[in-house]
Amino acid sequence: MDRVARRPAGRRAREVYGADDIHDFARRAILDALTLEPEDRLLDVGCGGGLLLRDALSSGATVTGLDHSEEMVRLARERSPGAEVVLGSAEQLPFPDASFTAIAMSIVFFFLPDPIAVLCECRRVLLLGGRLALYTTSPSLRGTPAAPEPLASRGQFYEDEELAELARLAGLAAVVVVNDDCGQLLTAST
Ligand SMILES: C[S@@+](CC[C@H](N)C(=O)[O-])C[C@H]1O[C@@H](n2cnc3c(N)ncnc32)[C@H](O)[C@@H]1O
Repeated sequence: MDRVARRPAGRRAREVYGADDIHDFARRAILDALTLEPEDRLLDVGCGGGLLLRDALSSGATVTGLDHSEEMVRLARERSPGAEVVLGSAEQLPFPDASFTAIAMSIVFFFLPDPIAVLCECRRVLLLGGRLALYTTSPSLRGTPAAPEPLASRGQFYEDEELAELARLAGLAAVVVVNDDCGQLLTAST
């Protein structure tokens, strides 16, 4: 299961994250929240197969993806020509301070053992006034096809208020969590 979701590798992972409808609900919610403009510089943390990058490029923004799976970096480069895609860890983003105006994170938060460290890194690489939108799997989906066992037991679920508090502890402002049938959308700014 880890080779398919936490650090995807192999043929099955390429099939899953190469599919056009993979996590489309999360991608749409994030892009709607970020309302990218041509002058934006977006970072997609845990970009997987690169579909959010591909869709974000149509806004005219400068688009960068990061993933710790070599296979996903390769797939994202194929799927989103025009985006820069780098191999790296969300816990230590390989970018200088204030490099981006927007950050996306789609179905990645669930896998992070130290979510505050990652949110602090996001804050560091965002310009003042930058915005973050992340979408994650809510606790009510534990054990459903969205978060089946044994994956569910190895991931991190947060109630809405817990999720908001993590973002505040990382120094983010204007934190809002919206919970829909598919998961939780957290938006925040620096
Ligand atoms: C479930 S997939 C989601 C992929 C994509 N964002 C989407 O919505 O389709 C999770 C992705 O996050 C990446 N990932 C998980 N933990 C990471 C970390 N600590 N640093 C960088 N990438 C990570 C995985 O390699 C995988 O590509």
